[in-house]
Amino acid sequence: MPRPIEALVHTEALAQNLARTRAGAGDARVWAVVKANAYGHGIERAFDGLRGADGFALLDLAEAERLRALGWRGPLLLLEGCFEPRDLELCSRLNLWHVVHCSEQIDWLAAHKTHQPHRVFLKMNSGMNRLGFTATALRGAWARLDALPQVDEISLMTHFADADGERGIAGQVAAFEQATHDLPGERSLSNSAAILRHRLRNDWVRAGILCYGSAPDFPEHDIAHWGLAPTMTLRSRLIATQQLAPGDRVGYGSTFNAVASMRIGIVACGYADGYPRHCGSGTPVLVDGVRTTTLGRVSMDMLAVDLTPLRGAAIGSEVTLWGRGPAGSLLAIDEVARAAGTIGYELMCAVAPRVPMRAEPS
Ligand SMILES: Cc1ncc(COP(=O)(O)O)c(C=O)c1O
Repeated sequence: MPRPIEALVHTEALAQNLARTRAGAGDARVWAVVKANAYGHGIERAFDGLRGADGFALLDLAEAERLRALGWRGPLLLLEGCFEPRDLELCSRLNLWHVVHCSEQIDWLAAHKTHQPHRVFLKMNSGMNRLGFTATALRGAWARLDALPQVDEISLMTHFADADGERGIAGQVAAFEQATHDLPGERSLSNSAAILRHRLRNDWVRAGILCYGSAPDFPEHDIAHWGLAPTMTLRSRLIATQQLAPGDRVGYGSTFNAVASMRIGIVACGYADGYPRHCGSGTPVLVDGVRTTTLGRVSMDMLAVDLTPLRGAAIGSEVTLWGRGPAGSLLAIDEVARAAGTIGYELMCAVAPRVPMRAEPS
C-alpha cells in the first residue's frame, strides 16, 4: 500500500478561472502563465484546463518544448527571454516569442542566423528593478531591435511590483506610458492582481495565480470574493488517533500542551510532502470535510490534528490539507499559506515529487 497522500489537479476549475480571467481582461488576449511547471500543477496535467488561453508564458525552454509536444501550435512567450545565445536556435525552431530585457540579448539576436524573424517583447524596468531596460535605455534598445532583420515585431511590456497592495501601480504605469507612448507595438502590463484590481489598456495580460485559484491579494480578498475555484487539492488520511490527558504534549519540541482531555489524529503528511513546517498549531485543516486545526510541529512525514469537533473520525478518515474536501467542503490554499507566513504560490509550487499527483476532470 502506498502512503495515502495524493494531490489532485482540477481541470474544470482551471477552465473556470481562465474564464474569470477573460472576464476581467476586457478585450486583451490572455497568456496563461505556466512557469514553474504550471505553478506546481504539472504542465501536462494543467494543459487541458488552460488550452482555451490565447498563449502560454513560461521561462524554461524545456517547458516550451513540452507544450509543443502536447500539440500547442499557438503563441509561447519566454518571460525571461534567452539565457544564452544558442537558446535562439530553439526559439527559431519552436517559433517562441521571447522577452528582451538586457542589451546582451540584443547582441545575441544580432549574431543569430535565422530564416524566420522573431517576435520579441521588449521589457521596461518601470520600478521593480528586477529585469528590463530603464526609461532612458529603452528607446535605444527599441531602435536596435527595429534595425535587426532577425526581428519582425516588437511588443512592449513591464511588470508590477505592487499590483496586489496599497502602493498600487500608478507610478509604474506613468513611467511606462511616458517612456513608450510614441512607440508602436502591442502592450503587456497586467499580472493577476492588476487584472483583478486595476483597469488598464493591455493587448495581452499575463495571468498566473489567477488561473490556479489563489487570491493574489489575500487576506484583503479571498477566492470567493474574486469568484475563483481551487485547482489543486492536497489530501491524505488519518493513520492513527491518540487520546490525550490534560498536560499531555504533542510532537517534536512538545510545543502543544493539552489543557483538557482531547482526541487527536495523526495525518500521513509532513514537510517532506511539501506541507510547510512553518505552520504552527492552529493551522486550518479539514477532516471528513469538517474544519479543525493542526496541533504542534509538523514532522517530516506526519502532522497532528484536533479531533474535538469530530467524534466519528478514525483511522482512514479523509484529511484535506488544502483544496476540495468531501461534500462540497473547501479549504483555500491561501489560508494555509498565511499560517505559514507565505503565499499560495509557494505552497502549490512546493508539493514534493514523492506525492502522487493526477488530473481530475470534474
Ligand atoms: C513577468 C511576469 N508576468 C506575469 C507573472 C504572473 O504573475 P501572477 O501569478 O501574479 O499573475 C509573473 C509571475 O511572477 C511574471 O514574472
